[in-house]
Amino acid sequence: MRRSRILSTGRYLPPKVVTNHDLARIINTNDQWIQERSGIVERRFVEGEVGASDLGFEAAKIAIDRAGIKPNDIDMIIFATLSPDHTFPGPGCLLQKMLDMPGKAVVDIRNQCTGFMYGMSIADQFIKTGMFDKILVVGAEVHSTGLEFADSGRDVTVLFGDGGGAMVIGVSDNPDRGILSTHLHADGRGFKDLWIEAPNSRCMPRITHQMIDEGRQWPKMNGRNVFKGAVTHLPEVINEALTANDVKLEDIAYLIPHQANMRINQFVAHKLGYPQEKVWHNIQRYGNTTAATLPLCLDEMLEQGVVKDNDLLMFAAFGAGFTWGSALVRW
Ligand SMILES: CC(C)(COP(=O)(O)OP(=O)(O)OC[C@H]1O[C@@H](n2cnc3c(N)ncnc32)[C@H](O)[C@@H]1OP(=O)(O)O)[C@@H](O)C(=O)NCCC(=O)NCCS
Repeated sequence: MRRSRILSTGRYLPPKVVTNHDLARIINTNDQWIQERSGIVERRFVEGEVGASDLGFEAAKIAIDRAGIKPNDIDMIIFATLSPDHTFPGPGCLLQKMLDMPGKAVVDIRNQCTGFMYGMSIADQFIKTGMFDKILVVGAEVHSTGLEFADSGRDVTVLFGDGGGAMVIGVSDNPDRGILSTHLHADGRGFKDLWIEAPNSRCMPRITHQMIDEGRQWPKMNGRNVFKGAVTHLPEVINEALTANDVKLEDIAYLIPHQANMRINQFVAHKLGYPQEKVWHNIQRYGNTTAATLPLCLDEMLEQGVVKDNDLLMFAAFGAGFTWGSALVRW
C-alpha cells in the first residue's frame, strides 16, 4: 500500500495581538493567573468581518505554493473547525470557491481540538488506498467573535485565539518516510464538559431571546474534567502509536501536542518520562487555536529548521467531544 507524507505547510495569524493585560482591562482576570494556569501570554484576534475560511485561505495559499502545485492539482479539501463561517454549508466549500477549484471533493470536520488530527488521518486513508494523490488539510478558527467577554466566561475566554494552518498531504516517494500511523478515539460521555448549547436543533426556534439572555450561546467548560481527560488520554494514545510502530519514546525527536494548556503538555511529558525541551510549544503567543494548532506548530518548526530528515515526530491532540488521537510521522 502507498504511504502518505506531508508535502508542505502554511500558516496565517491575524495581525492584531491581544495580551493578557488587554483582556484584564475588559474582564476580571490578570496576566499572572493566565500565565500560571495556561502558559498563555498573548493571542491573535481578527478585526472586521473575517471568518474561519478567510484564515484558512491565507494558510492554504502558502501551503499550496510551497508544495509547488496549483489549487487544481488538489483532489480534496478537508476543513476542520469548530467556528465555521456559517452553520451550513461548511467552510470547506467556501475555501474551494476562494481557491477556484470547482468540482473537487470537500469534507468538513467538526472535531474541535482533534479536528486537524482526524483530517490528517482521513487524508492518509484516501492517499493510502490510491483514491486521491493530493489533499489539502486546513484547520482554522475565529474564536474571538464567539467568546464571552464578561466575568462569567473568563475561564474559557482567556484560553482561545484565532489562526489558520494548512498542510498539503501527498504520496511519499520513500515507503519508510511519511505518516506511519494515526490512532483516533472519542468518548461522548464528555460531551457537556466543553460545549456550546445554542443554537440547537432540539429547540424551535434554535435560539431565542431567552437563551441569549441566559448566555447559552457562549462556550462552557468543566476545566478540571478537560484537564483530567487530556492528561489521561494523551499518554495512552502516544503509547498506542509507539507500540503499533515498535518505536521507543526516546526515538521521538519532537512531541508536537495540541496547545490547549502548557501545563497539560508539561504534565503529559512528565507522565511519559519524555524530555520537556523536546515538547513543542507555541501557546504562549497564540493561545488555544483549536483545529489550527498542529499545522501552526509544524509550520513554525520547519521555518526554524529544527526538523531534520528521518526525525520521528509524534503529533497528539485532545479536545471537546471528548475526542483525541495521535499521528506518528517520519520526516
Ligand atoms: C481552566 C483551568 C486553567 C483552570 O485552572 P485551575 O487551576 O483548575 O483553576 P481552579 O479551578 O483551581 O481555580 C479557578 C479559580 O480561578 C478563577 N478563575 C477562573 N478563570 C479565571 C481567569 N480567567 N482569571 C482569573 N481567575 C479566574 C475561578 O473563578 C476560581 O476562583 P475561586 O477559586 O475563587 O472559585 C484548568 O482547569 C485547565 O487548564 N483546564 C483545561 C482547559 C483546557 O485545556 N481547555 C481547552 C481544551 S481543548
